[in-house]
Amino acid sequence: MSERMGGKRWSPPLRLRGPGPDWAAQTPTWRQARPALIAETLKRATARPSGNWFVVGASREVRAGDRPYGRTVGGVEVVLWRTDGGELRAGPGVCPHLGAPLRDSRVACGTLVCHWHGLALDGSPFAGWQPFPVHDDGVLVWVRLDEVGGEKPTERPVVPVRPATDSAVDAVFTAAGRCEPQDVVANRLDPWHGSWFHPYSFIDLSVIREPQNDEDDGFVVDVSFRVAGRLVVPVRAEFTAPEPRTVVMRITDGEGAASVVETHATPMTRLDHERPRTAVIEATVATSDRPGFALARAAAPVLRPLMRRTAGRLWRDDLAYAERRWALRSTGRFPG
Ligand code: FES
Ligand SMILES: [Fe+2]
Repeated sequence: MSERMGGKRWSPPLRLRGPGPDWAAQTPTWRQARPALIAETLKRATARPSGNWFVVGASREVRAGDRPYGRTVGGVEVVLWRTDGGELRAGPGVCPHLGAPLRDSRVACGTLVCHWHGLALDGSPFAGWQPFPVHDDGVLVWVRLDEVGGEKPTERPVVPVRPATDSAVDAVFTAAGRCEPQDVVANRLDPWHGSWFHPYSFIDLSVIREPQNDEDDGFVVDVSFRVAGRLVVPVRAEFTAPEPRTVVMRITDGEGAASVVETHATPMTRLDHERPRTAVIEATVATSDRPGFALARAAAPVLRPLMRRTAGRLWRDDLAYAERRWALRSTGRFPG
C-alpha cells in the first residue's frame, strides 16, 4: 500500500479506480455473510465483561462552565459536570429533594445547584444522592451503572487502544435508534453489507479473515473508501468487539494506519423496555504519519464536522438496519 516518507518514494493516498462493475454487478456477499457466524460472533462479544461501564458522550461535550450534561442510560437519568479544576462528577439526574431534573440545573463554582430550591451537590454523597463512578478517557466519557449493567463492577472501562491524542484528530458522532445495543453491534459485525448497502462510501470490499474463536475474534476487511467519484483510498481494516457494547474498526494497513473508529451502543431505555432506544456514540480517532497531518490537526475544528457528517450518512442507513433487526426479532420474524 502507500509508502511512507523518509527517503522512500511518496505515493498519494488517493487512487483512481478503474470503472469497475456497476452496483448490481458486484459479487454478492450473502453466501459469506452467514447468519450463524454473525450470531456466534455477537454472542461471544456480548458475553465479554464491561464492568458495568457505559459511554455517555464526548469528553469535549461535558464542558466546564455553568451547564451540566444529562443523559438517560438504561432508564436511569444521569447528570455530569466538571469541577473548577476540570474533574468530572456524575450521579443520578433526579434531585433528591423533590425530583427536579438536574440536567437543567446550574453549575456554580464547580458545584451543581438545583434550580428548584437550591440544593447543592459537590459530587460527594448527600441527602440520599450517591455519585456514580465516572471515567474520562480523553475522547469519551464513561459512567459506571452497576444496577443497569448487573455485572461484576471494574475499576475502569475497557477503553480501546487508540493513536496518541497529540498525533490524532478525533470526532464524536451521536445518533439514536429504536433497537437494543445488540442490534447496533450486530450491524457492525456484518462487514459484508459495506459495498452493497453503502455504495456511496465503500467499494471493492472483501472480508479476508473471519472470526475463529474467543482468542482470535476479529474480521479483517480490504475495502476502498470512496472520496469522490472514482477517487478512492484503499485500506485494510480489522473489526473487533472488546466488550459487549463496543465494536472497534482499526485501520491496519494503508492510509491512516492505526486510526480507529469506535462504535459504542448505549441503551437509553430499561433493558426490558417494550420499545427500546439505543444511542450510537461513535468516536473516530484519525492519525497519519504523512507530513501534512500536523496541518490537519491544526484544522481539527473544521475537520470534525466533516468527519461527523460522514459518520452521519452511514449511520442513517446502519440505524435502519439495526431498527429492522430489532423489529423482526421482537416479533419473532428474524430469519437469522
Ligand atoms: S427539587 Fe431540587 S432542591 Fe428542591
Ligand atoms: Fe454499515
